[in-house]
Amino acid sequence: MALRFEAWCPAGVCPGWSVILKGESRSHANKFEINFLCDQDDRIAFHFNPRFTESDIVCNSFLKNHWGQEERCTHFPFVADEPFQIEIDSDDDNFHVYVDDTKILQFKHRVKDLKTITRVQVVNDIIISSLEISKKHFY
Ligand code: GAL
Repeated sequence: MALRFEAWCPAGVCPGWSVILKGESRSHANKFEINFLCDQDDRIAFHFNPRFTESDIVCNSFLKNHWGQEERCTHFPFVADEPFQIEIDSDDDNFHVYVDDTKILQFKHRVKDLKTITRVQVVNDIIISSLEISKKHFY
């Protein structure tokens, strides 16, 4: 796992915070991930994983040391070597994902205690040009 970015927001990032990642996939990209993690442990509340080899986006959670049920999005808007913007925000019920300002999927919260989701991580085949975390709505 090649860690490209990690931020820790002790007050929690859900709901109401928006993560905007501008980047470009690496040439010969295989996959990259954006993970929303809980506190200090290894639970992943939301794993967003575009896979170039499968032209699929895999979404999942990793709780109690196990991957959960995958949710796949077959609409694959990423093109190797081309820049893109991913925005992920959340409300009380779902994460919402937009690529280049078009909504592509939502993922229902599996971790119900939203304030425990405090870390955002970007890993693997991506070149990051900027990452912004900002408050989108007031809760
Ligand atoms: C696994 C993969 C993990 C994660 C998971 C999602 O096959 O090794 O990195 O992507 O799928 O369900």
